[in-house]
Amino acid sequence: MRRSIISAFAMLMASMAYAQDINLPAPNIHQTSMSVVETLQTRHSTREYNSDPLTLQEISNVCWAACGKQRDDQHITAPTAMNRQEIRLFAFLPDGVYEYKAKTNTLEKKVDGDHRKLLAGGQNFVLDAPLSLLMVIDFDLMGSNSDGSRMMACVDAGNVSENINLYCQSVGLSTVPRGTMDSKAISQLLGFTDKQLPIMNNPVGYAKGVDRFTTKSGANVILNCIKHGSLSMQIGDKWIYVDPVTDKVQPVTDYTNMPKADIIFITHEHADHLDAKAISQLSTPSTEVIANPRSSEQLKGAIHVMKNGDEINILKMVANGMNVKAVPAYNNSADKQQFHPKGRDNGYVLTIDGLRIYIAGDTEDITEMAQLKDIDVAFLPCNLPFTMTPEQLAKAAKTIKPRVLFPYHYGQTDIQQVVKLLEGSGIDVRIRQYQ
Ligand SMILES: Cc1cc2nc3c(=O)[nH]c(=O)nc-3n(C[C@H](O)[C@H](O)[C@H](O)COP(=O)(O)O)c2cc1C
Repeated sequence: MRRSIISAFAMLMASMAYAQDINLPAPNIHQTSMSVVETLQTRHSTREYNSDPLTLQEISNVCWAACGKQRDDQHITAPTAMNRQEIRLFAFLPDGVYEYKAKTNTLEKKVDGDHRKLLAGGQNFVLDAPLSLLMVIDFDLMGSNSDGSRMMACVDAGNVSENINLYCQSVGLSTVPRGTMDSKAISQLLGFTDKQLPIMNNPVGYAKGVDRFTTKSGANVILNCIKHGSLSMQIGDKWIYVDPVTDKVQPVTDYTNMPKADIIFITHEHADHLDAKAISQLSTPSTEVIANPRSSEQLKGAIHVMKNGDEINILKMVANGMNVKAVPAYNNSADKQQFHPKGRDNGYVLTIDGLRIYIAGDTEDITEMAQLKDIDVAFLPCNLPFTMTPEQLAKAAKTIKPRVLFPYHYGQTDIQQVVKLLEGSGIDVRIRQYQ
């Protein structure tokens, strides 16, 4: 009896330990991402994160990129001296510290609790990143602790870290390679001996001001706030820009080092929306510029002209294509009609593999908004006196009922009023730097 109680307890403990491990979904090695050259051109360190948790798929992908199982059981994604694979990877998540096991594609729980502050070492932005990856040199795996081996192991850790840097950049995630951390406390926490040396870490997450949405078939659509009425979207290796502007709106934006555009949408002809210089900085021969008729008159080259009500399907964007509809954007207040007369300017509704994004352009709360259905994400303007007051914007939002609302192009308007007016509406209002 006593023996069976003990063995039942042992089984329970074993199953609990097992239950705390995480079986990761297979890494998505067919994911579309930026080219290596564009990734190298745009890679940079990020020290401001939003704390949205990553999905297990995203965690699996980034761990695999760091040092995951590759072409056979003998190789991993990072080269290591003599293929010793002595860099162990630990994932610091809010609920615990895990070790990544490439062979089984699992995260093995080592310790409960949030220990990211041991990695931060005073750089508090690390606490905002939902994941931090720690690289640990294991000299037992290296088979030697000589000066030469120590040097090679440091180089190997750099390779793993650079894999993380490049992977993150290519899919719209952010990171920074770091040497700072409380190595002694980490070693104590994880029970290391002098044969295991914490060497580098990379916080991983989306940068502050970046929002990730998912299409019906699971592709990420990453929205980046640029400023004012300018934004960009990354969908795998494809880039969409809306109303990019260089120096007509402060701060000046240089697009030359940004990923080239597959599509540029122009809502209307005003200089804070239509800027030939920005379009030229972002364009390649295959970039498609989509604009309202009046803007197209000011642009050289092949422009795809869309007037209110026009609709097109663009197949190249995502697996199930992207539908674009040009919708009206105009002033309906008697004293504002000179700003944006009816019928001239466009808003756009993009349906990207089921994800519906409404970019309103410069408009007031017009009756046509009632026809917009199933909008997931809406961008509504609030720049006075040219577009909507906070009250009009809140009314428009309650009509459209988006899941997520970005007030944008809001200039000096007190945008917190919109947040207050929409309290309790069920709409997730997100304020980004769209002054
Ligand atoms: C080995 C190494 C250690 C680093 N340590 C830190 C660190 O502790 N904290 C930090 O904020 N950045 C750290 N960095 C990031 C560098 O400061 C950054 O890469 C450098 O300033 C160049 O900027 P870029 O990555 O945007 O090109 C480290 C980079 C490397 C390669």
